[in-house]
Amino acid sequence: MEKWILIFAVVVTSLDLGSGSINGYFNLDEINDLIDDYQLQYPSLQKEIVGKTFYDREIKALRMANPHKPRILVIGAHHARELISITNIFYLLDYIMTNKSLSLRTEREILFIPLLNVDGLSAISDEFNKTNKILEIRKNIRPTGCKIEDQGIDLNRNYGYKWGYNNHGSSTDPCGEEYRGTSAFSEKETQTIRDLIDIYMFDSVISYHSYGDLYIRPTGYTHTDLSEFPKSHQNLYNDLKKILPSTFKFGTVNEVLGYNANGALMDYLYSLGIFCIEVEIGPEKYNSFHPDISKVKGILDSHLEPFLLLVQRTDSELIADVSGNGRRLVIDVRNDGIATSSNCEIHVQFEQSLDVTVLSHQLHQIEKKILKVKIPPISSEEKEVITLLVRGDIEKFNVTVNFEGGSQHKGFSGEIEIHKLGSRNNLVWIIVISVISVMALFVLLLIYTFYKSKNDTKFIELAEIQVYA
Ligand SMILES: *[C@@H]1O[C@H](CO)[C@@H](O)[C@H](O)[C@H]1NC(C)=O
Ligand SMILES: *[C@@H]1O[C@H](CO)[C@@H](O)[C@H](O)[C@H]1NC(C)=O
Ligand SMILES: *[C@@H]1O[C@H](CO)[C@@H](O)[C@H](O)[C@H]1NC(C)=O
Ligand SMILES: [Zn+2]
Repeated sequence: MEKWILIFAVVVTSLDLGSGSINGYFNLDEINDLIDDYQLQYPSLQKEIVGKTFYDREIKALRMANPHKPRILVIGAHHARELISITNIFYLLDYIMTNKSLSLRTEREILFIPLLNVDGLSAISDEFNKTNKILEIRKNIRPTGCKIEDQGIDLNRNYGYKWGYNNHGSSTDPCGEEYRGTSAFSEKETQTIRDLIDIYMFDSVISYHSYGDLYIRPTGYTHTDLSEFPKSHQNLYNDLKKILPSTFKFGTVNEVLGYNANGALMDYLYSLGIFCIEVEIGPEKYNSFHPDISKVKGILDSHLEPFLLLVQRTDSELIADVSGNGRRLVIDVRNDGIATSSNCEIHVQFEQSLDVTVLSHQLHQIEKKILKVKIPPISSEEKEVITLLVRGDIEKFNVTVNFEGGSQHKGFSGEIEIHKLGSRNNLVWIIVISVISVMALFVLLLIYTFYKSKNDTKFIELAEIQVYA
């Protein structure tokens, strides 16, 4: 009996970390096989061809599809030689799929792209097969008149926000490490990511690179203050920073690397208001984009917790505030989370029977003392205002607001005061305004009669002059 349990526990892991043929890292054929294997093994993962490269190779993704759940994009290897970033994506997928106690599997929609720079990795794979040497290719090897290691465009300098902002954060040299290309989004790989963002409208994006054990937040083209971000983004950046091992660094490109980078993916996402983090995997001390494979598990494990925090926190958090305003009851619903909320219904419950009309929204349903109103998705830091008109003599009542099914959403419960229109307060104002108006009219009348009499005199004088001439 116990033996059977043991076998069960062993079978669940599909990934043999470090079994790849490039010094333990995976070559292109092995990556494609792994994507197929994962799809077969986990029916909840769908393989998708999300785009093509310059040399017409397929850019593939594995999609953990959960419609209407918060959406996350996870990308490996913008830069071909950063082999550990590819292994990392499979490791994360494996963790999510095999850990039975992880509820995130059904609570998030995640698109994993293990390898973006397919052409670059193809060249590395071929060369390794021939010579057992790893070509240190960073760019996408599109022909730019250079030797293979220097060929092509730096995909992470080709995105369309502040592209080519200056020549320090990217290069105009076609053989340079950070060649940005001839225009923003000139490359099919960056176009693929841009189009995916348009289609999916991700709530957060994690882009993996190597190395340095760095967590890099926008912006790269210049230094931006954290206070420029929505509060929910600031909170997540701060909490992420707190859980990182002491040897890791967190900050902008300039803070952690000492230089700027323009045309990077994260700045493009920043311009769209999408939460984004770029992660450089592997300690500085190994000085490698693909450190000795015996170290890989330890390195990837150290990046697991930050990943889980990001996935966990890519969620919506609806909060209701209620106030009285005249005979109106105003319910402010805001989203303090990172993610856009899904369609939901709010339930407004009154302690006593009241005559209530919904002014701002279509009333969905009324049930005894409960009003049910449907509200559309609200993005992070957005607001939805629901206005109700309360009739009758009552001035104080208790009201409770709940979100349908939303356990992590904060409702409202409390006593609210409203005032009748035409109450004593209003009457005083009406009298004051009336008195002022009457006085103003009287003054105008005085001015008018004064000028009129003056003009009449002038006319008489003119008439007299004419007589004398
Ligand atoms: C599985 O996930 C749970 C919840 O996040 C965590 O506590 C546990 O350590 C994970 N198990 C493994 C084997 O990593
Ligand atoms: C490596 O080269 C051999 C011989 O040319 C070939 O059979 C094999 O498919 C190649 N492997 C890869 C991964 O390209
Ligand atoms: C509202 O509820 C509180 C607590 O239950 C109660 O003390 C208060 O009297 C209620 N107010 C009204 C106007 O019903
Ligand atoms: Zn990189």
